[in-house]
Amino acid sequence: MQQFTALLTGVGKALPQKVLTNADLEKMVETSDEWITKRVGIKERRIAAEGEWASTLGLKAAKEALAMAGIPPEQLDLIVVSTTTPDTVYPSVACLIQKDLGATKAGVLDISAACTGFIYASGIAWSMIRSGLMKHVLVVSSEILSSTVNWTDRDTCVLFGDGAGAVVYSSSTEEGRGILSMTLGGDGTECDILKLPNSGCRRFPEHQGSFIQMQGNDVFKLAVRTMSECATEVLTSAGLTTEDVTLLIPHQANIRIIEAIATRLKVPAEKVFVNIEKYGNTSSATIPIALCEAFEQGRIKKGDVVVFDAFGAGLTWGAMVLKV
Ligand code: UT7
Repeated sequence: MQQFTALLTGVGKALPQKVLTNADLEKMVETSDEWITKRVGIKERRIAAEGEWASTLGLKAAKEALAMAGIPPEQLDLIVVSTTTPDTVYPSVACLIQKDLGATKAGVLDISAACTGFIYASGIAWSMIRSGLMKHVLVVSSEILSSTVNWTDRDTCVLFGDGAGAVVYSSSTEEGRGILSMTLGGDGTECDILKLPNSGCRRFPEHQGSFIQMQGNDVFKLAVRTMSECATEVLTSAGLTTEDVTLLIPHQANIRIIEAIATRLKVPAEKVFVNIEKYGNTSSATIPIALCEAFEQGRIKKGDVVVFDAFGAGLTWGAMVLKV
């Protein structure tokens, strides 16, 4: 039987123009540039303007990724969007992007896996391509977290930002390239440590409005342990070691989480991609935005081994190995 692999053929990103700095936040809540820089590693984040939504940012990123891949939208078989902040539950963001791209042949769906959304969406793309069912899949991760942040809560408002990233995966019969391995996991028993109440059909009278609630310390510890384990697992199942890794692209939630994972995995700092200082935590969009910047900076070339590693609400987690 013919073996298909999912090659990465395009990447794109879109970030709002508006920059919110730590100095701006100092005027809004009792915080300091020093605390945010030291404890989290963020200097600034982007905030969507009026009329900028998950669909509009996602569309920009998607167009960039398709242009790089050289694939006309009509050839897309599927559009998967990961988002925690869809414009509306329906139509899905994927439907809106499909309409604006003119991707007339593509199936469309949104998925909800919080910060791990990009890896879950890539898993769907991989399965569709590997099975021979599809040739070209567009994955978009687009988040407007500014719409879910309580701007008077210093515990959370300094952490998040808006942005979108997109990739195109295309079918190939080339051996040893493309997505090599993946792991996906979750633990609903820990659902209370990171949540967005009043965001669905259930009302939580104890919470005013719909804002991110997080027990930061608990999330921190689980993120370090789980992401280290996930990265090790996917490397082992791909028959590789950390020595083979060109670039580790972890979810950008906290510089101290990233450094702790790199130490545990024994990956030197120069092989770890970090851009948290510019954008903060954009949930599922952090990895594809970082991937796009890694290409722009010439840090990834054909044949390189890249590891994606994420952890988020749900709880959800996942990692994958990609040979570019
Ligand atoms: O993307 C999904 C996954 N999310 C994550 O992985 C986030 C994981 N968690 C974290 O990154 C960290 O736990 C935080 C950045 C959220 C918090 O850092 P921390 O080092 O765990 O701080 P803490 O919550 O233990 O708070 C330490 C102190 C507290 O003061 P006291 O009680 O020691 O007097 C807080 O009130 O820092 C205080 N604090 C702040 N101070 C200035 C909390 N937020 C702020 C703030 N500015 N914004």
